[in-house]
Amino acid sequence: MRQRAAITAKTLRTDRWWFAPLLTVIGLGAWVTYATVRVFMHDYYWVEDFHYLTPFYSPCVTQACIPEAAHFGRVLPGWWIIPDAALTLPFLLLFRLTCYYYRKAYYRSFWLSPPACAVPDGHKTYSGETRFPLVGQNLHRYAFYAAVIISLINSWDAVLAFHSPKGFGFGLGNLILLGNVVMLWAYTLSCHSCRHIAGGRLKHFSKHPVRYRFWTFISKLNVRHMQLAWITLGTLALTDFYVMALSAGWFNDLRFIN
Ligand code: FES
Repeated sequence: MRQRAAITAKTLRTDRWWFAPLLTVIGLGAWVTYATVRVFMHDYYWVEDFHYLTPFYSPCVTQACIPEAAHFGRVLPGWWIIPDAALTLPFLLLFRLTCYYYRKAYYRSFWLSPPACAVPDGHKTYSGETRFPLVGQNLHRYAFYAAVIISLINSWDAVLAFHSPKGFGFGLGNLILLGNVVMLWAYTLSCHSCRHIAGGRLKHFSKHPVRYRFWTFISKLNVRHMQLAWITLGTLALTDFYVMALSAGWFNDLRFIN
């Protein structure tokens, strides 16, 4: 067996290799903290006048939900420990946790496994994703199917939000909700599993022109998957914050029509 070179230094890299993992820890840590606080706040998630519903409470399915905000019924008990969107949040969490990009990001930054190229692993042994629990990362494709359904629900929320006390209405909140939904679709469709579903296991693209077109389109999005992963964290937090601010009466929605 070939021996590793006898170098005592932990790494010979002299650049700031630790900067990207550090940014990831700060970014993901801040987002998860914000989302957790919001999910268990059980308040300020619905704007009655304009039917704005934050994605963190969509669909609202517990007995504690405001009836008008519960577009799909209130089927779960209303205990504070149960998120009001308890039927969707676990799947969204699974989708992001098993995402190929996020895996790279949190393996490097939180588990230091390894933190960067040519920097040693923070652990003595390494079994990759071959054993429990990490072998479960292979469930990603199924989480993708769930994410598609949830994106449809978020899209429906954005349609219902063209509302005002006079009937139809359109304001800045609609632009924010729509922008978030467009970005969520871009992130979801740019998924590596989606790309494989579209174009994988084919011998001849020429015999499957529709799948080839879809695969080409997804491939263009796929190269931006990392950016879309971060952009959607931003649009989700912004949408939630905007709905919370309106609902709490901190300021009024900028209305263009009604
Ligand atoms: S690979 Fe990132 S969402 Fe599927």
